[in-house]
Amino acid sequence: MLLVFGSINMDVVISTDGFPAAGETLLGKDYRILDGGKGANQAISAQRSGASKTYMVGCVGHDRYGDDVLHNMRIHSVVPSGVGRSQTSTGLAVICVNSEGENSVIVSSGANMDARADQIPDSFYVPNNVFLLQMEVTPEENWHVIDRAHDAGSKVILNVAPALPVPIETLEKVDYLIVNEHEANALAKIFDLDHANPAELAVRLAHKFGLTSIITMSDKGSYCSQAGKNLIRGYSMKIDAIDTTGAGDAFCGTFAACIEQNFPFKKALHYASVAGALTCTEMGAQNSMPEKRVIEEDLENCPPPEEAK
Ligand code: RIB
Repeated sequence: MLLVFGSINMDVVISTDGFPAAGETLLGKDYRILDGGKGANQAISAQRSGASKTYMVGCVGHDRYGDDVLHNMRIHSVVPSGVGRSQTSTGLAVICVNSEGENSVIVSSGANMDARADQIPDSFYVPNNVFLLQMEVTPEENWHVIDRAHDAGSKVILNVAPALPVPIETLEKVDYLIVNEHEANALAKIFDLDHANPAELAVRLAHKFGLTSIITMSDKGSYCSQAGKNLIRGYSMKIDAIDTTGAGDAFCGTFAACIEQNFPFKKALHYASVAGALTCTEMGAQNSMPEKRVIEEDLENCPPPEEAK
């Protein structure tokens, strides 16, 4: 069983030619209002890509967006029974997507900051359950969840997105750390690690905290290091990107689903890489999370991970 503790947002997605500078007003094109939030995106991705059962724990407001995002989770067979309601509005993200599919995102956290670790029933903390977390909720609540999950023998996957400081003692309880290049560099600065290149940084992070590190580099693939083992090179699949929003979430959700299904590491990485790429081929995040069958059809179009040369 997989439990995602994290954010649930409504995304206002505006197509633009470029991104506004400070003080500038840009005329955008069409817009869409879509379900989002890194936590909810990852939960839906995990369930669609083959997790046995995915539970979502987080917080939304007593408002229409809150109703809508919960409804969407149920449609995708994610169990939102652990989602609380607060007096604050449901989280909202404003996302600009340019003609290359690149995005800029600003999030008003709202109710996400009211998500509490104690919303997770004790019965979830058992060996072999998988916990997946990101950084769009109150950080201390994440640390409580990680402490308990680690002590129970559950597997912990932490996606440090957005990049924020994480206590050393928390990272030491994480099994899999997933970051993009920008987030990896931010962690390197916080912990005073040399970050000359992502391959070396992946090794340093794995060694320092005794975990498996995965540094994703969008269309350049990924570097992964398991302490004491060889560096792994992951590859990406060539696609025409329409919207990269949610690509990291598809990677994390699919990777978590594969770990929950006890896939070997390289196979999990292969599935996650394909899922991340496929998500970029449609507008929006949750509606473009690929199903397991679709991921498997495209595995042959993405080179499998291998020992780095
Ligand atoms: O990772 C993409 C997500 O980040 C969006 O859905 C938005 O809600 C923000 O949380």
